[in-house]
Amino acid sequence: MNKKLTKSRTRIRDHGEVFTPDFIVENMLNLVKHETERIDSRFLEPACGHGNFLIKVLERKLDAVERKYKKNQFDYERNSLIAISSIYGIELLDDNVQEARKRLYDFFLEKYKKLYKNKINQLLLDNIKFILERNIVQGDALTFKDKNGKAIIFPEWSAINGIQMQRRDFQFGDLAEFNPKQPTLFAMDVSDDGKVVFSPQPIKEYPVTNFLKLMEQENVK
Ligand SMILES: C[S@@+](CC[C@H](N)C(=O)[O-])C[C@H]1O[C@@H](n2cnc3c(N)ncnc32)[C@H](O)[C@@H]1O
Repeated sequence: MNKKLTKSRTRIRDHGEVFTPDFIVENMLNLVKHETERIDSRFLEPACGHGNFLIKVLERKLDAVERKYKKNQFDYERNSLIAISSIYGIELLDDNVQEARKRLYDFFLEKYKKLYKNKINQLLLDNIKFILERNIVQGDALTFKDKNGKAIIFPEWSAINGIQMQRRDFQFGDLAEFNPKQPTLFAMDVSDDGKVVFSPQPIKEYPVTNFLKLMEQENVK
């Protein structure tokens, strides 16, 4: 449980670190309720702290996965990975980043174990950890740079059909130049008159692969 809303006065002063209480998170997410329950809708929180919003988005998505797919473990696993891969965060402070990733991972693991007890697929868990490490990034959301001063890169994970996924990497700086009328992550926007107004280009495209081979794929040159 992470109910404390502050860690220290210094951190409040230096980083404005005051976490959002659960009831406000829930109320805010209710404003986009339908999207929070859509398994593959993408969420990015640019100053995510230790994940108070991200964890609630994950909870809602996993509830939807469970409702639809729990009778079939394979479908549950595939859709859980899609749900997790659609959640993104940026955070300045290392301990918050570690905590956010761990909270999301542990939350999934608990649900997964409860459902399937001793039939746990370690490869799924490894891929989920791998995705969380890429989706929740330590960096500065204002300069678009990561902790090493390099451009923040986010992978877009797209379910292709059945068990296949495709990864495409984008620079956050390019994604942030969104159409303020209708911001989206990765996807292009279409204006009222039908024109494409925003279409960021990936800096890298990976071949389509099995959803349990995403981690392995990164290491293939
Ligand atoms: C007010 S807290 C909110 C945390 C979280 N969004 C929540 O609602 O619980 C702001 C967080 O943003 C982080 N932060 C401050 N400036 C940032 C920046 N330029 N880029 C990314 N994170 C930043 C702080 O470290 C802190 O964890």
